[in-house]
Amino acid sequence: MKFEVRSPLHDQESIFIPSEVDHLAKPFNGTVCSRKGDEYAIENNIVDLLPKEREYTLAQSSNNWAITASVYEDLWRVRSLSLLTGEPFPIEKEKELLNQWVNPQPGKTYLDVGCSTAMYARALKKAEPKSRMVAIDYSEAMLVEARMKAEANQTDILLIRADAREMPFFAKTFDGIAMGGTLNELGDELKVLFECRRVLKDDGTMFMMHLIKSETWYGWIFQNSAEWSGLKFWTVEESNELFQRSGFRVVDQITKGIVCFTKLAVV
Ligand SMILES: C[S@@+](CC[C@H](N)C(=O)[O-])C[C@H]1O[C@@H](n2cnc3c(N)ncnc32)[C@H](O)[C@@H]1O
Repeated sequence: MKFEVRSPLHDQESIFIPSEVDHLAKPFNGTVCSRKGDEYAIENNIVDLLPKEREYTLAQSSNNWAITASVYEDLWRVRSLSLLTGEPFPIEKEKELLNQWVNPQPGKTYLDVGCSTAMYARALKKAEPKSRMVAIDYSEAMLVEARMKAEANQTDILLIRADAREMPFFAKTFDGIAMGGTLNELGDELKVLFECRRVLKDDGTMFMMHLIKSETWYGWIFQNSAEWSGLKFWTVEESNELFQRSGFRVVDQITKGIVCFTKLAVV
């Protein structure tokens, strides 16, 4: 089924993405446009709804490097939670929690925000192959890597280059949203959370994994020095205030070391 997105230039205008675009086994190239005539390229199945030039913080621009994208998941992501929680935390355990909280259903549509290599979208799709996954990131390099991994995994995902601060979706499009580690580097976290609230259905669930302020002196020094690169950290209480302000309520929350998992529902 074709997927309807909102034109990044004309708020009320739809753009329809053909269903063939998320069948990653078959390369798809072309353009899509709204009725107003604004056109967007689809290159090798990746729908590009953003202009090439943007302003990035250092943490954000490192995601645009092909080298970061190529090592991100296999070298860092699969080990990251064991390092950050201070206890063995295999990636399978994180995916299990993701699937349990989001609980993907056949025929429903889910969004992975700031997807990088779309590990969350792949895990959800594997749990429910009859669901539809949409993954957005503004890094072309990450989306190219996400495409390779999803194709190798025989997982169909609709990959869109878009800015989470102004999502190219109409209100209440998604049955569930997953965001892993992205909140810390958005810069404009409240704006993105409001966008998540807008595009999530009223009975939808949001899975959030983010990093909180460290309570150790060495963690505190590290996080303070990381802040200059654009990363932000909050206490659990501060994080929950952000969630509440953007229209979510905390349904469940697990904190391990500086890693916080939160299941959010709409207020
Ligand atoms: C820490 S990585 C998270 C990766 C992934 N969610 C995971 O669990 O492995 C953050 C990603 O968010 C993307 N990102 C940051 N700000 C964004 C924005 N405003 N819009 C879209 N993507 C963004 C970055 O390009 C990067 O790939």
